[in-house]
Amino acid sequence: MRKKIVAGNWKMNLSFTEAEDLLYEIVDQLANKPVEDNVDIIIFPPALYLELASDAALDANIYYGAQNCSEYDNGAYTGEISAQMLNSMDATHVLVGHSERRKYFNESNQSLYNKIDQALSYNIVPVYCIGEQLEDRELNRHFDVIKEQLSEVVFKLSEEEFSNIIIAYEPVWAIGTGKTASPEQAQEMHEYIRNLIEKNYTKDIADKTYILYGGSCKPSNAKELFSCKDVDGGLIGGASLKYSDFIELIRIAETV
Ligand code: PGA
Repeated sequence: MRKKIVAGNWKMNLSFTEAEDLLYEIVDQLANKPVEDNVDIIIFPPALYLELASDAALDANIYYGAQNCSEYDNGAYTGEISAQMLNSMDATHVLVGHSERRKYFNESNQSLYNKIDQALSYNIVPVYCIGEQLEDRELNRHFDVIKEQLSEVVFKLSEEEFSNIIIAYEPVWAIGTGKTASPEQAQEMHEYIRNLIEKNYTKDIADKTYILYGGSCKPSNAKELFSCKDVDGGLIGGASLKYSDFIELIRIAETV
């Protein structure tokens, strides 16, 4: 039986003190009312603040990770952060292939595969993000785009490797736009993804894979999204920067 996951992607936001305030507001709320066992919380702060997150994680039941990692092992790659470094900070998860990284940093399928490989070698769970552009949906090729993003990256993994990843479906037209996929659109795509996983691996693996929805998910629409059979929670951008919204999303996830 899958739990729900509520994950916060802070992107490139917040000063150190703002990040500290946000984390401790979340920790305080969870100290008053600990999160139920049926929900996992993951926070993806800017990597610079991982140590803050690790302190906070001790006080509450929170996993934390980075928004990106290098496709290379340690060495002469100025400015990069390796999966081994994340592991040494006790980070448990890393986002890979977020649409903003694909768009602004030209991340190729091969480099995404390498990043996932690095993460897995250091026992970090990659959260692999996929999603179609508005144009793809308008031209009715959204299923093909998703299939390609899976086939060219994560479907190259062995069964054992694949069992250690999380998928996040984030339609690009819904990210940061206030325009959310309807529950029907989300469920339809999540079911399609789960069926592809079953075809490529096994039903057991498909049933165990977490598929999160991302894209303008907020307290007002989370209940109907999280209630969808194949939606296992959310990857939350904007609403994860406001502690009250983030906590509300966690509480909603506990009830569905
Ligand atoms: P959003 O971002 O919730 O602000 O749309 C989601 C994401 O990019 O992960």
